[in-house]
Amino acid sequence: MNYEYILTRTDGRVGIVQFNRPKALNALSPALMSEVIAALEAFERDAAVGAIVITGNERAFAAGADIKEMAQASVVDMLHNPFIDYWDRLRRISKPVIAAVSGFAFGGGCELAMACDMIVASETAVFGQPEINLGVMPGAGGTQRLTRAVGKALAMEMVLNDRRLSAAEAEQYGLVNRVVPVELYLEEAVKLAQQIAARAPVAVRLAKEAINAVYEMPLQAGLAHERRLFYMLFATADQKEGMDAFVNKRAANWQGK
Ligand code: CAA
Repeated sequence: MNYEYILTRTDGRVGIVQFNRPKALNALSPALMSEVIAALEAFERDAAVGAIVITGNERAFAAGADIKEMAQASVVDMLHNPFIDYWDRLRRISKPVIAAVSGFAFGGGCELAMACDMIVASETAVFGQPEINLGVMPGAGGTQRLTRAVGKALAMEMVLNDRRLSAAEAEQYGLVNRVVPVELYLEEAVKLAQQIAARAPVAVRLAKEAINAVYEMPLQAGLAHERRLFYMLFATADQKEGMDAFVNKRAANWQGK
């Protein structure tokens, strides 16, 4: 499919979505976000893809939602425009999604990275929720996911007072998985995605679902959900294969069944 605001490609079993509005620092307009979701859904349907990487460019992952497109919006325009829902639709992707972040990850860009399952950051990455400077507040998860990731004290400073996090701080506070030199961040994210894509697909999918359920459920319900998913995997050929491979000291050959 031809896209106007993003580039897509595959590398082995990894699907890659790259924002492509460099002059606007990859501002996430409704048109760009609808293409991102269409590309993710296409990779979701493609059995040859086992994991997905979302990225921008070295200068900017994304500098937020497109301010110019929102500037004159009324509350009714915002209510009727489904564009913030695109951030939620990312959560419906069952395959692992890794954000490869370099440069600015601000506002909706930071929120999109946090909606991914993991973040690989370059040393130049900067994370922030600067919406307060525009007279608004985060609207796509910035008060919820950020607080769960870094805790209330720091989230309050970031959202109320535009405190920005360097890549090193983001790693220190558990917002990102790892920080690598700028020349390597995309390669490293794709490598991590390749490794996960080579694993038992149904187990990966259910494990991702179980971890994300932490944010939705109380502990007892989460534990019961986890147990059901764990038992469910005993209906897969890959469980038989994985355990037989271990017992017979050979490499497993995953079927995704
Ligand atoms: N929306 C639209 N355009 C944007 C943009 C955004 N979020 N961020 C940057 N741009 C545009 C600039 O307007 C500029 O365009 P022109 O060349 O046509 O003037 C171009 O990108 C380059 O930007 P700057 O000249 O500002 O670059 P800089 O290096 O001086 O500053 C920056 C970089 C600090 C990231 C600065 O651009 C900035 O503060 N951007 C806005 C960040 C922001 O407030 N994000 C939150 C958006 S609201 C949101 O995301 C709501 C939500 O929760 C969903």
